[in-house]
Amino acid sequence: MQDLTPDRVTLDPVEVASREQISALQLTRLRWSLQHAYDNVPHYKAAFDAAGVAPADLAHLADLRHFPFTTKADLRANYPFGMFAVPQDQVRRIHASSGTTGQPTVVGYTERDISTWSDVVARSLRAAGVRPGMKVHVAYGYGLFTGGLGAHYGAERLGCTVIPVSGGQTERQVRLIRDFEPDVILVTPSYMLSLLDEFERQGLDPRASSLKVGVFGAEPWTEDMRREVEERADLHAVDIYGLSEVMGPGVASECVETKDGLHVWEDHFYPEVVDPETGEVLPDGEEGELVFTSLTKQALPIVRYRTRDLTRLLPGTARSMRRIQKITGRSDDMIILRGVNVFPTQVEELLLRVPGLSPHYQLVLTRPHRLDEMTVRVEARPDRAADEREQLAERLRVLVKDNIGISVSCDVVEPETLKRSEGKAQRVFDQRPR
Ligand code: DLL
Repeated sequence: MQDLTPDRVTLDPVEVASREQISALQLTRLRWSLQHAYDNVPHYKAAFDAAGVAPADLAHLADLRHFPFTTKADLRANYPFGMFAVPQDQVRRIHASSGTTGQPTVVGYTERDISTWSDVVARSLRAAGVRPGMKVHVAYGYGLFTGGLGAHYGAERLGCTVIPVSGGQTERQVRLIRDFEPDVILVTPSYMLSLLDEFERQGLDPRASSLKVGVFGAEPWTEDMRREVEERADLHAVDIYGLSEVMGPGVASECVETKDGLHVWEDHFYPEVVDPETGEVLPDGEEGELVFTSLTKQALPIVRYRTRDLTRLLPGTARSMRRIQKITGRSDDMIILRGVNVFPTQVEELLLRVPGLSPHYQLVLTRPHRLDEMTVRVEARPDRAADEREQLAERLRVLVKDNIGISVSCDVVEPETLKRSEGKAQRVFDQRPR
C-alpha cells in the first residue's frame, strides 16, 4: 500500500495547534453556543432553567457538566422543527434519521453549517489519505441520510472528482469502479464486503482495482474487519464517525498514517465521556457513553447530546485533537445473554479468526424454554466444502465460550444466503416473545 501521509503544511492550523490554543477556542465557542441555544430554542431555555444553570455560568470548559443532557427523545418531542434555532428561511437543508424505531429525528443546516460540514469532511478525507484531484466513489446512501450528501460536499470541498453512486445495485457499483477507476471509495464496511464478494463473483481480483483508500463508517467495525478488507482489496481502510444530530459524517476521523482511533474535530464538536448509568463525566481514558456539544452550529445547536455510543477519550497522536477509540458498539445494540453483556463486534472479531468463516453474520435471539438463547448464523467462505461446516461451527462455539463466556449455537450456512446490507447492516434479530 502506498504511503499517503498528508504533508503537514496542507493541514488546517488548528489540527496542529497546542492544547491550550484548542481549549481557549473551545471556551469562546462553547459560551456562544450555549447562549445561542438558550436564546433561540424554547426547549433549551426550559431545560437550563429547570437545572438552575445559565450560559453565563460557564467559566471553564469543565463547567459544562452542570448543563442538562439532550436525548433523542427531546428531538422527537420537538418534531419536526422545534429544536431549530434560526428562522426557517435561513435553513438551507434538512436531513432526518431513518426512524426505524418510532418518529424520525429531524436536523437542519444553515448555509454556514453546510460549509462547516464540508470543511470537516474535507479534513477527514485528507486525514484518510485522500488528495485533491483524486476520484471519489460515494456509495453511502443519498437522501435524508447524511452519509451520501455529507461525503459528497466534503469531497468536492477538498477538490476531488465526485462520483455520486449512492447505495445499492451492487453489480453496477463494481462496473463503475472498473470503468471510472476511482482512487477512493466511501461506503459502509458491511456494504464494502458485498462489493468485494461481487468482484470475486465476476472473476475479478479486487486487489487489482484502482482503489487506494476506503473511508468506512456509519456502523461499528473491528480491527479484524480492517485486516480482512485491506488484505482482500489492497487499500487503506480508514474509519470515519459521525451522527446526524451532531452534524453527519466527519465529527471524528482516523489518520491514515496511524490508524489508531478517530481524532475528534474538537474545534467544532466538544466531546465528553460519561457513565451511562449516572451521567457523571469520566476522566479521559475511561470507557463510557460519548456525549457531544456543538460549538459552531447555527440551525441546530446541540447541548450534551447522549450518543449511546461507547468509547473512551484518548490523547492526540497524529493531530493535536483528542481521539476516540474505535466504537465497540451502541448501548442499544448490547445483548444481555443470561447476565453477560455482548456486542455484535465481539462476535465479529472471533468469527474472523476462523479461517473458512466469512464476515457475513447475524445474531438471532430466541427464548425456546424460558431462557434466552443466541444463534450465530454465519456464512462459510465459498471455497469450503459443505461437510466442513459442522467443524467450523464447533470452532466458533468454542471461541465464543472461551472469550466471551457464553454458550451459543452456531449455524454455518451456505455462501450468499444471508441478506446483504446496502447501507448499515442489521446484525441482531430479536425473535424473543415480547
Ligand atoms: O451514520 C453518519 C455517517 C455517515 C457516519 C457516513 C459515517 C459515515 P446516523 O445515521 O445518524 O449518522 O447514525 C449515527 O451510527 O451514533 C453510531 O452508532 C453509528 N456510527 C457512525 N459512524 C460510526 C463508526 C451516520 N465509524 C450512528 N463506527 C452513531 C461505529 C458508527 N459506529
